[in-house]
Amino acid sequence: MGDQYEVSEAGVAALTIPSLRWEEPPEGPVVVLLDQTRLPAEEVELVCTDVPALVQAIRTLAVRGAPLLGIAGAYGVALAAVRGFDVDEAVEALAQARPTAVNLGYGVRRAAAAYRAAAPGGPDAQAAAALAEARAVHAEDIEASARMAEHGLALLGELLPGGGHRILTHCNSGALVSGGEGTALAVALAAHRAGELRRLWVDETRPLLQGARLTAYEAARTGMAYTVLPDGAAGSLFAGGEVDAVLIGADRIAADGSVANKVGSYPLAVLARYHHVPFVVVAPTSTVDLETEEGSDIEVEQRPGQEVTEFSLPYAQGPGAEAGTGIPVAPLGAQAYNPAFDVTPAELVTAIVTEAGVVSPVTRNGLAEVCSTSRWS
Ligand code: MRU
Repeated sequence: MGDQYEVSEAGVAALTIPSLRWEEPPEGPVVVLLDQTRLPAEEVELVCTDVPALVQAIRTLAVRGAPLLGIAGAYGVALAAVRGFDVDEAVEALAQARPTAVNLGYGVRRAAAAYRAAAPGGPDAQAAAALAEARAVHAEDIEASARMAEHGLALLGELLPGGGHRILTHCNSGALVSGGEGTALAVALAAHRAGELRRLWVDETRPLLQGARLTAYEAARTGMAYTVLPDGAAGSLFAGGEVDAVLIGADRIAADGSVANKVGSYPLAVLARYHHVPFVVVAPTSTVDLETEEGSDIEVEQRPGQEVTEFSLPYAQGPGAEAGTGIPVAPLGAQAYNPAFDVTPAELVTAIVTEAGVVSPVTRNGLAEVCSTSRWS
């Protein structure tokens, strides 16, 4: 695969990674994904010709991150419709592939609703409607990403006058999770372009290393000054006064403002509060789930223990390796606790930045209001 980055006028590389695209080769339409399990060692594409392949890619995190899961889910429904598979079955399988990121169900539901609404026109019209809706979900995410970057940059300016920000982030929230430049990382990138980012602290994000593998990959390609740290080292960074703000994304935000994001986010919020550092969540309104009343109602995905007790990512075993043959790092039979996400209560969140504006302080009413003003609500 060729170089997928362009150098912008500002002399800063812009991320143009096609993390997901729809293609229509003569053999039939496909969803093409950049296989994120292989980054940063290899840039390998996965071509999904059917829904089970896409579901498998979602489960194995070849495609991941809340906004991109929404886009993938919508194209998955379109794939089923255009190729003449059972759409109801596809909707069910896609929506249940992972439980926490609300965007997945959101994308699936939107494409499915368009498909159903076009029923009077027959199967071709239904397939066209599902595909058009998937393209709309994709385009809206690109626009939302740009708006979040603008709002987030302005907020950083207010919270941290003087620039020279040292920002800590967790997991991966850049172009790899979005049609655009992402959520939290898009804000960091905007600060970088504005000459205001002094350092991006990148939590490695155990156990699947989305920070070390993916955020560092994006930071390097965009020319940010970045440093990867073990998740457990964040405390000493705060204690040393080295963190000016925490910026993270979200997988689901409940109506009470509780934020589910990659496991390890909640400890950062506690650290940030103790050290009087702003803790900012950046997410599109499609990540806000007003039907989930409270943080404790959010279903947190539990992943296989082997992800903790073994190093088993393809990237760790070198180019071309297959998944599933891990190197043990704990005694045989060791039990593991491996929740993929944790939930941060609203009271620890300084602000939630959406494409429709910033919610701060984070309140149930403030969140509902910003969602009601969203163009896509
Ligand atoms: O398990 P993952 O890699 O899909 O988890 C992703 C995250 O937790 C991201 O931080 C989240 O989706 C927000 S990115 C916009």
